Amino acid sequence: MLFKRRLVTGQNDNTHPLIWLLAFICIIIAIAVIVAGITVFVGFLIIHPRVPTISIANAHLNLFRNDYVGLLQTQVTILVVAENGNAMANATFSNISFNISYQSHDIAILVADPFEVPKNSSKYLNYVVQASSIPLNPDQMGNVDYSWKRNIVGFDLHGNARAQWRVGPLGSLKFRCHLECTLKFHLLNGSYIPSKSCTSKLK
Ligand SMILES: *[C@@H]1O[C@H](CO)[C@@H](O)[C@H](O)[C@H]1NC(C)=O
Ligand SMILES: *[C@@H]1O[C@H](CO)[C@@H](O)[C@H](O)[C@H]1NC(C)=O
Ligand SMILES: *[C@@H]1O[C@H](CO)[C@@H](O)[C@H](O)[C@H]1NC(C)=O
Ligand SMILES: *[C@@H]1O[C@H](CO)[C@@H](O)[C@H](O)[C@H]1NC(C)=O
Ligand SMILES: *[C@@H]1O[C@H](CO)[C@@H](O)[C@H](O)[C@H]1NC(C)=O
Repeated sequence: MLFKRRLVTGQNDNTHPLIWLLAFICIIIAIAVIVAGITVFVGFLIIHPRVPTISIANAHLNLFRNDYVGLLQTQVTILVVAENGNAMANATFSNISFNISYQSHDIAILVADPFEVPKNSSKYLNYVVQASSIPLNPDQMGNVDYSWKRNIVGFDLHGNARAQWRVGPLGSLKFRCHLECTLKFHLLNGSYIPSKSCTSKLK
């Protein structure tokens, strides 16, 4: 009994220190990885970067003229802003495509080549869209008359873009930005009526 116990004790003394050391190192590494992960995650929560957005910064109705046979000429200037509220990562915007229409008549598709917006920054895109002769039916001409009376006219804008944050070597966070809103103008002076809905939502 005594011999056996001494042997077991001896074995413990010879082999365990190394195994314990290895186990200890493994545990330290595991804790370090977990702490690093939690730090990045909590860091993101604290900094709470705003997701990339695309919105209408400004617009102007340059021309809106309808004749008695129902042909409409119009021209609109649109200033789009892509914002990256993340102070830690550049954002890449791509696949920008927005349709603008008036009373279901497509006027133009706004597109842009992929571009990068630096940390905590924004980029403006300027568009001038025009339609030389949109044929309106009598109902739509009635709506135009009503617009002149109210001094307000609305164009429909809808479409999507993709945005992406590169988060170090770990990978990237991808977003799909969806914009759907009515661009409203005062008809008499062409000034834009800002709307909160003209900011993209995640989809
Ligand atoms: C981000 O930009 C705003 C102004 O555009 C500035 O007030 C703020 O301090 C910036 N934040 C960081 C973390 O750079
Ligand atoms: C996004 O645009 C790229 C080219 O810029 C194209 O290859 C890709 O198919 C597009 N993706 C989508 C989902 O439309
Ligand atoms: C972020 O963008 C800035 C300016 O465009 C550039 O100088 C910098 O290298 C970019 N950083 C990363 C990590 O891509
Ligand atoms: C935009 O208009 C084009 C052609 O008029 C159509 O093919 C496309 O599906 C439209 N895009 C959206 C997002 O409605
Ligand atoms: C345009 O007209 C509207 C309504 O009449 C007015 O509220 C607005 O201030 C005008 N804008 C400019 C730039 O004059």
